[in-house]
Amino acid sequence: MQSREARWAAGARSAQAVFLVGFMGAGKTSVGRVLGQRLNWLFEDLDDRVEREQGRSIAEIFREFGESQFRRAERAALQRVLGELRSGIAKIVALGGGAFVNEGNAALLESSGVPVVFLDAPLEELWRRCREETGSVSRERPLLRNFEQFRALYRTRRKGYLRAPVKMETSGRPVEAIAAAIVKRLGLKKTQVRTESGEVE
Ligand code: S3P
Repeated sequence: MQSREARWAAGARSAQAVFLVGFMGAGKTSVGRVLGQRLNWLFEDLDDRVEREQGRSIAEIFREFGESQFRRAERAALQRVLGELRSGIAKIVALGGGAFVNEGNAALLESSGVPVVFLDAPLEELWRRCREETGSVSRERPLLRNFEQFRALYRTRRKGYLRAPVKMETSGRPVEAIAAAIVKRLGLKKTQVRTESGEVE
């Protein structure tokens, strides 16, 4: 039988999708957007899909129905994204910070063979980025409370993130450089598109 790593590596070779995982503040959405632009691939943020499907913001789902309901909606959204990928569409997907550390979600991703990249950074940097984003980003993070709670959650989850077959250090690196490193590491290929003037990009 093929090892976990071999299965995942095989998925990466034929990949038409990449999943970005990591803690809050890891840069999953900003790296994902740039990566999508670079490759001419679609970009999707799973939290955006959850909000669309539920007709509520993440913060409202947490407030009105609790975290467990959010996790159910997150799982259902992930299943739908994975189902859609079977059509061969090329896509980068950023997962919310708690998605990949859920055993069931990790198993779904593993069996899909789609490469999963863990964006890592030291705890203090993750905290700083989240604090800097607060106010500038419209999405409220219900699990971003105080540093002690942030650190405790990170410690519980880190082992889960490390199950991702690829780990990428993001500390002090611009988003462009991180995206370029992912392209190189996974050997991703740009989708050719024809511009309005007929040129191929
Ligand atoms: C969560 C992180 C958030 C969002 C939700 C829960 C978490 O996504 O999914 O608030 O459990 O860490 P980001 O990691 O994009 O902030």
